[in-house]
Amino acid sequence: MSGYTVPAFARFIDDLRAHFGKGLPEEEHWQGVKDLLAALVADEEMRETSRGWTAKKGREYVLHHDADHGFFVGALVREPDHRAFIHDHAHTWTVYGVLDGAEITHVYERTDDGKTSGKATLELIDKHDAPTGHVDIVGPWVPHSEWGASDRSVAITVRSDRPGGYDQNRYFPETGTTDNSHRGLVLVPLAV
Ligand SMILES: [Fe+2]
Repeated sequence: MSGYTVPAFARFIDDLRAHFGKGLPEEEHWQGVKDLLAALVADEEMRETSRGWTAKKGREYVLHHDADHGFFVGALVREPDHRAFIHDHAHTWTVYGVLDGAEITHVYERTDDGKTSGKATLELIDKHDAPTGHVDIVGPWVPHSEWGASDRSVAITVRSDRPGGYDQNRYFPETGTTDNSHRGLVLVPLAV
């Protein structure tokens, strides 16, 4: 029913729609999304297709926005030496899978009480390699940053909501400040 031409992607969307329809408890739900995305980012035809996508900073490709369940599937194509700002995804959930190349993921915890507007201090609590095929779950309000670890990398995102409609925080640990007016990347539709 999806109409997508890459078979693994068409199957992925059908499976995601069935999964969202189950209405599972939050943790179990997102773990299930992670398992489905792991199968997609293991698919060689999907990887080969992504090699034709143009890398551009500040852009997220829109692969699917689900009319019934509201979830969003995007793609990020990272240029060499990509260093994302430290940011969160506000109240939303994201499952993030590396389809091609390699990245390094940094996860932080806030060490302030969050009560002073514009101020935030962070502690790095996890830094791990995210090679091709790696999938992470990014929960609400978790500060994180992805760095490229290869000439080019491609990540697939499954988000609970379409980005751009809510404010996200960006964090600047060197000055102990935060800016909560970030609206995500420029969304560019891409046929798969
Ligand atoms: Fe992110």
